[in-house]
Amino acid sequence: MERTVYVNGNYVPESEARISVFDRGFLFADGVYEVTSVLNGKLVDFAGHLRRLHRSLGELKMAMPCSDDELLKIHRALVEKNAVSEGLVYLQITRGAADRDFLFPAQATPTLMLFTQARSVIDSPLAKRGARVITVEDLRWGRRDIKTVQLLYPSMAKMIAHERGVDDAWLVKDGAVTEGTSNNAYIVTQDGTIVTRDLSSDILAGITRAAVLKCARELQMKVEERPFTVEEALRAREAFSSSATGFVCPVVEIDGTAVGDGQPGPVAMRLRQAYIEESLKAAI
Ligand code: PDD
Repeated sequence: MERTVYVNGNYVPESEARISVFDRGFLFADGVYEVTSVLNGKLVDFAGHLRRLHRSLGELKMAMPCSDDELLKIHRALVEKNAVSEGLVYLQITRGAADRDFLFPAQATPTLMLFTQARSVIDSPLAKRGARVITVEDLRWGRRDIKTVQLLYPSMAKMIAHERGVDDAWLVKDGAVTEGTSNNAYIVTQDGTIVTRDLSSDILAGITRAAVLKCARELQMKVEERPFTVEEALRAREAFSSSATGFVCPVVEIDGTAVGDGQPGPVAMRLRQAYIEESLKAAI
């Protein structure tokens, strides 16, 4: 069964969707994206994703192609047309099509494209067994706070992890972990403090990260936002990641060394449960 996707004002079967070969998303990776999870047919933290989308567009001086209300309507229409009860909505906005030139075109109509993926997000075998990660050097560009479609290096890092038989890679700059290939990274120290890198242009400000830290503080857990080294992670009691696609996912091994007892940790599991409960309540 073909999915219905949205392209520039039209809902079309995926095989009929068309974008110009001169689209700057294709020629220059000149575009941004968002990924919103769907639970019970409803959108999780749509407002947060919308806020970050506006910020990404603003940093790149790119126009928002439609109103916020319109964007919500499109998300909801796609979820309904594709009967997604659990899964993800991917949105991409590029600067649009223009003859090839490094300079931004004076006038281009942005491309707006959305598609869905139906999949179970809550019932995740990876979250149950815990992820094994390796560390690799963070070779991405310096504006990781902007959610651009330049995903080649994360894709390469994930391939290295895959070839080594593990689940993901954590990226490392100057000895400290920045984040995962497509998630934010956390450790729980031996004294029970949750540590995750502070926000800067080094990492993406995860929408799930904000929600998870809020849950942690409400549960009276101690949180420190600061860089942590790979050595510190190897000595940690627990490790985990967060993202719209994985929610909270325990990490049980780093570079072949077990984290804690090598099993998903209680802090990660508690936060995963709290995050899911909160999301089920607040989804729109
Ligand atoms: N990735 N850091 C990076 C580099 C990411 O790509 C992502 C999300 C996150 C977590 O952000 P959020 O909590 O808002 O999903 C952090 C998405 C899910 C992806 O590329 O598939």
